Amino acid sequence: MNDRELMSMAREASLNAYVPYSHFPVGAALECMDGSVFTGCNIENAALGSTICAERTACVKAVSEGKRSFRRIAIFADSENWCTPCGACRQFLAEFSPEMEVLCAKAGNRYVSYKLSELLPHTFNY
Ligand code: THU
Repeated sequence: MNDRELMSMAREASLNAYVPYSHFPVGAALECMDGSVFTGCNIENAALGSTICAERTACVKAVSEGKRSFRRIAIFADSENWCTPCGACRQFLAEFSPEMEVLCAKAGNRYVSYKLSELLPHTFNY
């Protein structure tokens, strides 16, 4: 699967976003080392801190199905700025695959690619 195809899965996943508060839908498509892909969207809550981002939704779906090794994640939002993952999602993903690739979209079918270790150097672990 190429980057564009993975991003297109992320876009599709964003259609399920539950975003009554921010009105900012996000979708993610997480590719595992074995080629399987898990998608996710952001799911907000009236207790705002209970909101889960699209990236963590995809990650918990994958880990709960026994996958712990990831190659890439595509993050889609039709946003003015690049939709880079929040700090909590960086740490959450780095737990499993600190060297994975992170594709971040913005409006106009554009995306940039980072290594997770660039976005979160010196990940906490013990
Ligand atoms: N959000 C994500 O799902 N992923 C990101 O990378 C950035 C932020 C969500 C959380 C919240 O539902 C909304 O976007 C606005 O912060």
